[in-house]
Amino acid sequence: MELDAITKQYPGVKALDRVSLQVRKGEVHAIVGENGAGKSTLIKVLAGVIQPDHGKIRIEGKEIAIQSPTQARKLGITVIYQDLSLFPNLTVAENIALGESDDGSTSIISWKKMHATAQTALDRLGIKLDLNAKLSELSVGKQQLIAIARALVSDCKLLIMDEPTSSLSRMEVGYLFQAAMELKRDGIAILFIGHKFDEIYRLCDTATVLRDGQYITSGSLSEFTQEALVEFMVGRKLTNLYAKMPVHIGEDLLHVNHLSKAGQFENISFTVKAGEVVGITGLVGAGRSELAESIFGLNPPDQGTVSMKGTRIDLKSVSACIQSGLALVPESRQIQGLAMKLSMAHNTTLSIMRRIARFRWLLQPKEERSITENYIQKLSIRPPFPHIQVAKLSGGNQQKVVLAKWIATNPSVLILDEPTNGVDIGAKAEIYKAVNEMVQNGMGVILISSELPEILSMSDRILVMCEGRLAGELDANQATQAAVMKLAVPGISRGEQGAKDEVTAG
Ligand SMILES: Nc1ncnc2c1ncn2[C@@H]1O[C@H](COP(=O)(O)OP(=O)(O)OP(=O)(O)O)[C@@H](O)[C@H]1O
Ligand SMILES: [Mg+2]
Repeated sequence: MELDAITKQYPGVKALDRVSLQVRKGEVHAIVGENGAGKSTLIKVLAGVIQPDHGKIRIEGKEIAIQSPTQARKLGITVIYQDLSLFPNLTVAENIALGESDDGSTSIISWKKMHATAQTALDRLGIKLDLNAKLSELSVGKQQLIAIARALVSDCKLLIMDEPTSSLSRMEVGYLFQAAMELKRDGIAILFIGHKFDEIYRLCDTATVLRDGQYITSGSLSEFTQEALVEFMVGRKLTNLYAKMPVHIGEDLLHVNHLSKAGQFENISFTVKAGEVVGITGLVGAGRSELAESIFGLNPPDQGTVSMKGTRIDLKSVSACIQSGLALVPESRQIQGLAMKLSMAHNTTLSIMRRIARFRWLLQPKEERSITENYIQKLSIRPPFPHIQVAKLSGGNQQKVVLAKWIATNPSVLILDEPTNGVDIGAKAEIYKAVNEMVQNGMGVILISSELPEILSMSDRILVMCEGRLAGELDANQATQAAVMKLAVPGISRGEQGAKDEVTAG
């Protein structure tokens, strides 16, 4: 497939500016670039979701226009978005093979044939799944594998994955990559978008770098070091990503006492002090997000209490939690974090409107704008227009707006759930800098993250969760990745079978 000088202009933003790109059969090609560089826009062009203003697309040498998603599918282009377009109420077999196993000559569905087709696809990918299980009962990772199996039976030539791994466990990432390798062996070309370099180097052969909608360079990944790739992405050398500064650790702010919720987490107790970053890590599914939501009043626990500066918080009410000085930047920003139709400025100041109104000030648009501009600068949100609709921002920039919104409440304790998921490396550095500034001003931070380098460098103390329980606590100065993993993976310390798979698959 060949893209030739593809251009897409949005009002005020050239999302793609004469981007050219070639992908060969059996090649796994990474598209990398900062948030807002144009990666998702490029994918939408190929998926037939949007039309480019200029430029040509050729497949196997033939020029084509991709006018709709249906047409893209007919051309053999399959896209796996982060929010999957599968059918949650249908079974595994139906999702993989429905509409593919018969030739349309009859209106009778052959269930037997469908099951056989689905089973063959799963076998080829080396995945064991119950064909009759409902999709909604499966993890996101398994659903992603099913989307790949579907690609396999639908005669796919080009598979596109836009940040597919952000909510997968290590084991699921392992399976996903194995499945991708299987497709590669079949000569299917793959476009992979992601912000995690270890994954890119593990999976991909080549990379194309975009910056501000422009093509910067392409090449074999064996010839690019990670530093070189980052330099192409951001246009400058990037050093000292974490730069944690020494802070004074002050009095106790938050006490979490024996918090339990059946099926989610059990008997969790810890303290957060002023100026402290408490890291919480563990495998996906260990109960970290559920715990965070409980502390923030979104998920009332069965037992236990939380108090802020000695005063007990009513965990049945989010607004009581906010009043007491808590804030939560949630993991799934679109569902929980943003009003997509409102502007960046409205979203940023939404959470402090009440505070301002209490003094009977009419919120001046000018004020709203200047607060927002402050965060645009602090977190380098792009494009830097306070009045742009949030839906029009790229994924990573939406994440920064959620962050801004909660920092603006100036909480005593800020809970960050995977704050750098989906943000580029430059923006990560900005977010870490912002966290450093906040703790220097005496805020306490709970940092939930699966990224071990981030947890190890940003935290003062690290709590490791495993299957809903606190498996241990580590001093960040002495902790290593190995020590964290030993606590995080079920069964390692207890010598159970199954744990080994999890580690090796990752
Ligand atoms: N519907 C839209 N209207 C206006 N501008 C848009 C629209 N969709 C995207 N943009 C803009 O186009 C640019 C490219 O966005 P895109 O989503 O392609 O970035 P990305 O590389 O995928 O970034 P990320 O890593 O954050 O996902 C951004 O500046 C974005 O704000
Ligand atoms: Mg994107």
